[in-house]
Amino acid sequence: MRLWGSRMEKELDREVASFSTSIGEDLALYRYDIWGSIAHCRGLEKVGLLSSPEAQQIIAGLRDVYRLIQEGKVDPSPFEDVHSLVEVTLRERIGEVAGKLHTARSRNDQIVLDERLFLREAVAETITQILSLIHTLLEKAEAYRFLVMPGYTHLQPAQPVPFAHHLLAYCFMFLRDIERLEDSLKRIDLFPLGAGALAGTSLPIDRFYVASLLAFPAVQENSMDIVADRDFILEFLGGLAILALHLSRLGEEIVLWSTPHFGFITIDDAFTTGSSIMPQKKNPDVAELIRGKSGEIIASFFSLSITMKALPLTYNRDLQQDKPPLFRAIRETSSILSIAGKLLAHIFPQEDRMKEALRDGFLTATDFCEYLVEHGIPFRRAHTLVGEIVKKLASEGRTLHELREDDLGEYRNLFSEELRQRLNEETSVERKISFGGASKKEVEREIERCKTFLTQETDKVKLWQNKWWESFRELVGE
Ligand code: ARG
Repeated sequence: MRLWGSRMEKELDREVASFSTSIGEDLALYRYDIWGSIAHCRGLEKVGLLSSPEAQQIIAGLRDVYRLIQEGKVDPSPFEDVHSLVEVTLRERIGEVAGKLHTARSRNDQIVLDERLFLREAVAETITQILSLIHTLLEKAEAYRFLVMPGYTHLQPAQPVPFAHHLLAYCFMFLRDIERLEDSLKRIDLFPLGAGALAGTSLPIDRFYVASLLAFPAVQENSMDIVADRDFILEFLGGLAILALHLSRLGEEIVLWSTPHFGFITIDDAFTTGSSIMPQKKNPDVAELIRGKSGEIIASFFSLSITMKALPLTYNRDLQQDKPPLFRAIRETSSILSIAGKLLAHIFPQEDRMKEALRDGFLTATDFCEYLVEHGIPFRRAHTLVGEIVKKLASEGRTLHELREDDLGEYRNLFSEELRQRLNEETSVERKISFGGASKKEVEREIERCKTFLTQETDKVKLWQNKWWESFRELVGE
């Protein structure tokens, strides 16, 4: 069922109808379509385009349609899209007066209104899920704040770091992801209705009034831009793509750490799977799938970018294809965020293995250099000297813990108990007191910083959601 057809001489080809329908996707937007329609109706009433009784009749009808769809009592299959479904169902219930609802409106501005209403809630929900993941990471970080492990560059042992410091690195990535999504909200939370098909309208609408009913802080300015723009979805998908990259790195490290070669963590049996042929296997499939599924989220950003590339202004039907990647990305992100939190709560660091790994790889060689620097030796000279000492120790199968006075050659007078202490991994960590460094003090500061962020952000999101919820309740009820 369609909202047009009088200028056509033929019925629509059946295959064309099924090729062009979007109801399978945009039915998910019915809540927003009706919410926006009721606000639009109030706007038409305010400027006299609808009488009060007409407006009341339409609004009551729209509320009924909302409940019918909610209860699964409307068959969506014959409709072209969610807009047709709502309007036709409304007409069936309240008769011809339903035909006044679409005054001064086009599906072109209507669909972006639906998407903007939907997306601002999706931003809040995604942020809430990321906050919960950060919370789990912080709990692990706090529980293991004294645990030291090797840090890597080039996947080669580099310097000792607290396990908590490594987890906090992810907290800061996720914190940026939240900031990015929050920033995208500035351009999502804008009111589009009133652009009409592309040129605005000659009817005396009050866009600012309708925007305020829907709790939009600002009204979009150029009617052509309004119906042609999908940047707001791209920005959101871009934010999710970067978040997905971060999640894939976390998944990868959990896979690596759980191999017997690293052995830094074990994963709870409930979060691993076996092999159909090798009875001994315990595989980190959840972490692998986090890594694997993140690709689909990143692809969603590219998918919509390709749809948008070189598209002429203004509305083109191509734009209907913004929904599949958007919904797919949201679905995958939500499921990954949820399982990642559970997985993290079910990994257990293996202290002994981390300790063992700390002894290989001359992890405190840089601390050795810094000790020499404190004694007036230029860093470059110290670097060369320690490099030579490491070469010698390695060839003799010794570690820095077994350093002897004569290994220092012409600098033997600098050999001291203090130096031996400095070559200890725990000491090395404790001395990394530079702002943001690996010391316990800094780790604790970072934990506090993240906790404050968590509280502030949670409050902020609740405020947004309350504001939106009030608008919904006022207009649609519930
Ligand atoms: N289903 C369409 C979409 O999602 C709604 C807008 C249709 N507008 C039109 N002129 N055909 O983009």
